[in-house]
Amino acid sequence: MSAPRIRRYTDRAAFVEAAAADTIELMAAAIASRGACRIALGGGSTPRPVYERISQAGPAEGIDWTRVHIFFGDERCVPPEHEASNYRMAKEAMVDRIDRERAPRVHRITGEAPPAEAARAYAAELGESPLDICLLGMGGDGHTASLFPGRPEAAERTARVVAARSPVTPVDRVSLTLRAINEARAVRFWVTGEDKATRVAEVLREIASGEPALPAAQVQPASGELAWFLDEAAARGVK
Ligand code: 6PG
Repeated sequence: MSAPRIRRYTDRAAFVEAAAADTIELMAAAIASRGACRIALGGGSTPRPVYERISQAGPAEGIDWTRVHIFFGDERCVPPEHEASNYRMAKEAMVDRIDRERAPRVHRITGEAPPAEAARAYAAELGESPLDICLLGMGGDGHTASLFPGRPEAAERTARVVAARSPVTPVDRVSLTLRAINEARAVRFWVTGEDKATRVAEVLREIASGEPALPAAQVQPASGELAWFLDEAAARGVK
């Protein structure tokens, strides 16, 4: 695996602008070349301001939202209106800010259903076509999506969607697997904050060593393009 592209930005505002511009460019390219864009959104708190910025894109940037299919990298097994729902965050930060007449198609993970049932339904919705874009975050333990270190689902390489367990609440999750993530045409990590710096450096060292152990280090797209977008605080340990 070639070394991932590292993009580092002096502060949070520069990070948000760059991550949004990069994603809009990838979306426009997918729509131009394939007539549609299948994008999986990352969860947690980092993406919120970037989604708000992306929601402002339109035809001038090559974005016809009616051609965009929004998926999710993972979901907490909670109802869609729950404060921990990744769907709710994306709805507030992106989907609800887009003209309803030109809305994207949202493929929600049914967090209110039993995890195994939700995973089956989402796998059927996702299908077997590769994602155009997979947006990811990284936890301080090196997890990504809801694939946590040491968990069996982090080693799943056949299914594209699994029911997963988190060491922190909400414990029950549904997540894309590394198979689905590594099939994507473009994968992006968005990581900010001093508290992530040590783990970011460790993950990048694991990738360089050819012996990736942490889930975030095992994101190595088969043919897709991988880039890490970092603010300086998270990039502190990266040469
Ligand atoms: C989730 C995310 C998870 C997240 C990281 C980073 O459902 O929690 O998918 O993988 O990206 O935990 O979260 P923050 O952006 O909140 O630090």
